[in-house]
Amino acid sequence: MKIPEVSIPLWLNIIKIASDPLNHLDNLAKQYGDPFIINFGSTPIVFFSNPQAIKQIFTNTKDIKTPGELNEEMALITGNQGLLQLDGLRHKHRRKLIMPAFHGVKMQAQGQLICDLTKKVMDQHLANKTFIAYTTIEEITLQVSMEVVLGLHEGERYEKLKYLLPIILKSMRSPTMQITSIFPFLQKDLGKWSPWGYLMHLRQEIFELLYAEVQERRLVETFHETSLQESRTDILSELILARDEMGELMTDEEVRDLLLSPLFAAQDASAVAITWLLYWVYRLPQVREQLLKELNSLGDSPNPMSIAQLPYLSAVCNEALRIYPAQLFTFPRRVESPTELMGYDLSPGTLLMGCIYLTHQRQDLYSNPKQFQPERFLEKQYTPYEFFPFGGGARGCIGAALAVFEMKLVLATILSNYQLALVKKQPEQPKFEGLMCYPASGVKMHISAKTPRPSAFKK
Ligand code: HEM
Repeated sequence: MKIPEVSIPLWLNIIKIASDPLNHLDNLAKQYGDPFIINFGSTPIVFFSNPQAIKQIFTNTKDIKTPGELNEEMALITGNQGLLQLDGLRHKHRRKLIMPAFHGVKMQAQGQLICDLTKKVMDQHLANKTFIAYTTIEEITLQVSMEVVLGLHEGERYEKLKYLLPIILKSMRSPTMQITSIFPFLQKDLGKWSPWGYLMHLRQEIFELLYAEVQERRLVETFHETSLQESRTDILSELILARDEMGELMTDEEVRDLLLSPLFAAQDASAVAITWLLYWVYRLPQVREQLLKELNSLGDSPNPMSIAQLPYLSAVCNEALRIYPAQLFTFPRRVESPTELMGYDLSPGTLLMGCIYLTHQRQDLYSNPKQFQPERFLEKQYTPYEFFPFGGGARGCIGAALAVFEMKLVLATILSNYQLALVKKQPEQPKFEGLMCYPASGVKMHISAKTPRPSAFKK
């Protein structure tokens, strides 16, 4: 059996997916079924959305690998030894080193911080004004990300990084950089005013700030033995103390590169997911009321861990991640030895991607998939191959638990303390950049008052 190939020219495909990603993917699924192939120049990629295929992609680690070289483009801003650029045993080992920062006890410590940061950023908005939700949420997730990954919350280095990190992400996503990344001859550092030169300049500044932080933290560790382990909960401190496979401490360069992908992911993907979450909750009054009732059942100052356990809030977050997943596709995988998926024979070298969005839109899994219905997550338990906003398998998201925790706490804090409304009645358009599905206008909101939640909803 031959997998159908999408026949429209690549340039048209790119324009359609960038400007109207979800409708375009719906149309491709309607026209070609599952799977289909898109040819990216000379590189064909097979897109799957059937849960059985997704299961094999995530679990058949003998025949299907997740080579780091396929994510080379990201190395531009993360360095060559980031998690995304590694594979095999080294990748597995480095993931293990980062994971302790996401253990339950450490996350509990971050719960109050997430609520406080949300209030700090939201309090900057004046009553009776409008604001762009994405920009505000990005400010919150950036600060959370710097705290969780670097353990930084003040000082000159913190301020500089807080300024530079969103700029480099935006510069990577800009149309000029997208074109530059396709044509190697444009990748020349012609000084700060050329697109490539500017990116390299930003990257160097960030690298230097991170080096300085790593070195300072090592000094603290040398002069106060075990102080980091005892006093810090961030990823940087874990990495400074960690030993590699040979029992050696990692180099400053390795530590720097390992910090960058979680730092960017925690800021960017989380900001997108929380903005879509706010959009749905403020679009659907019945969902908002149900959430407020549930939050009020916890009393006046609920602790973050009890908020995180609320079933309806969890279902609303899942539904937001289902309907508009922040990341529409998994990272690419490669077939290493002949294998079969859904009756198709795949030869070595074939590239595969799981299409998260199309799986989440399957009628056989989700009735009325275009409708926002959190109840479906209360009625049914979905498998990790039917619902996978964070991918899965060897390259599954390391920050999934933190991301969902943050979604819940940011939403609960906003709902409980501010009176907001969407400015536009029309639906927000999604747009696609990188692997991410952004709200095109950023979701404009109006803040009418900074008051506790309406007493009508109190117990
Ligand atoms: C709602 C927010 C987030 C979403 C939707 C999301 C989604 C994803 C997805 C789909 C993948 C690819 C998985 C695959 O190919 O199987 C991924 C990988 C990754 N995510 Fe997330 N992510 C989020 C937040 C975070 C956070 C908060 C962090 C870190 C603190 C993080 C760090 C990473 C890293 C480092 C990888 C690459 C893992 C590897 O190469 O082994 N992400 N994420």
